[in-house]
Amino acid sequence: MRQINVGIIGTGWCGGIRAEACSTSPWVKELHIAEIKPERLKEVAAKTKPVTATLDYRELIANKNIEAIMISATPETTHYPMAKEALQAGKQVFLEKPIALELSEADDLIDIARQKSLIFTIGYSQRFNPKFAYVKRSIDEGTIGEPCSALVSRHITRNLGKKIGGRIKLSPAAMEATHDIDFVLWCFAPRKPIRVYCQEVHKIMKGEYNVPDCAWIVVTLDDGSAFTIGAGWVLPPGYPNFSSTWIEMVGTEGAIMVDDTHRDVALNTLKSGIQFPISTMPGEKVQHVYAGPMEAETLHFLECVALGKQPLVTAEHARMVMQVYQAADLSAEQGRPVELVTEQVPAGAAR
Ligand SMILES: NC(=O)c1ccc[n+]([C@@H]2O[C@H](COP(=O)([O-])OP(=O)(O)OC[C@H]3O[C@@H](n4cnc5c(N)ncnc54)[C@H](O)[C@@H]3O)[C@@H](O)[C@H]2O)c1
Repeated sequence: MRQINVGIIGTGWCGGIRAEACSTSPWVKELHIAEIKPERLKEVAAKTKPVTATLDYRELIANKNIEAIMISATPETTHYPMAKEALQAGKQVFLEKPIALELSEADDLIDIARQKSLIFTIGYSQRFNPKFAYVKRSIDEGTIGEPCSALVSRHITRNLGKKIGGRIKLSPAAMEATHDIDFVLWCFAPRKPIRVYCQEVHKIMKGEYNVPDCAWIVVTLDDGSAFTIGAGWVLPPGYPNFSSTWIEMVGTEGAIMVDDTHRDVALNTLKSGIQFPISTMPGEKVQHVYAGPMEAETLHFLECVALGKQPLVTAEHARMVMQVYQAADLSAEQGRPVELVTEQVPAGAAR
């Protein structure tokens, strides 16, 4: 079995999960971590026992022994420069969404990865949620026929809305709906989005954070099929990082309704009232098992690097997702549908 040396940049919430997954994976020989908060670096290092733990991510980029880098830093302005440096140094790269802030930056990263024949994949972790994978399989195997329309409604708590809105002015379309745009376009591939209409609501987050509360998006595809994504971040807390999702996927021969609203495990205490544990989007460790998609996604990347395989999420697909959420932002701003011209997406993107 070929083992690899992996570096993780930014060991906050997601990077911490990725570091823990790497530290126990048989694919990993050496783990290296970089984090600018000394306390957090110490905390994650104590849990994951990396070979090196540094405050300067450039030490990981310069380390010739490191083959793969996972970038989980915030704010999102760090994504493009860090990914560019890592790719230029010849590393296989996993980058949390968003791929970049501008399409031109995404194109630059995709070009470098292609020129150097490197793996470059984006963290669309919901593809590793078994319920989502079931929907995809039901389409691929023809169980519900050809998909015709879909709805995904995803809502997270205002604690998360404030965390994101406090660090960067990206919309719920770019930061939340992005997962569901990725997922539905994956299900509907090889169809391409041609038109996007979006309305935002500005009532709760406007004053303090100047970001929308939610976005409702309608996307039309090139064969006339359509889907709707609703994404918001103003729910009251139900659990730290609570997330609630509902999916309707309707096909020519059937339909699938997926309840991922996380009301199935309810904890009720005198101290905190009712809470819905294990309901975060990336998931969390529960004793000896992991509940959620992020551990499986991390292991998938490690396996792809070790075996030289293309990961499930291509950067070209992530670019198409970016086109859709940028069009949604423009549509909300201008109050009109926005027409899209999507380039031919390489076959890998339809996987
Ligand atoms: N797939 C999912 O389910 C999911 C969920 C949440 C967040 N995300 C994405 O993952 C990314 C990380 O989100 P998070 O919630 O873990 O953020 P976070 O703020 O909890 O963690 C980011 C960490 O990066 C560190 N950092 C910043 N600059 C750095 C630098 N120069 N060098 C090293 N470390 C640096 C910060 O100190 C922080 O600890 C975001 O971009 C977000 O879009 C994905």
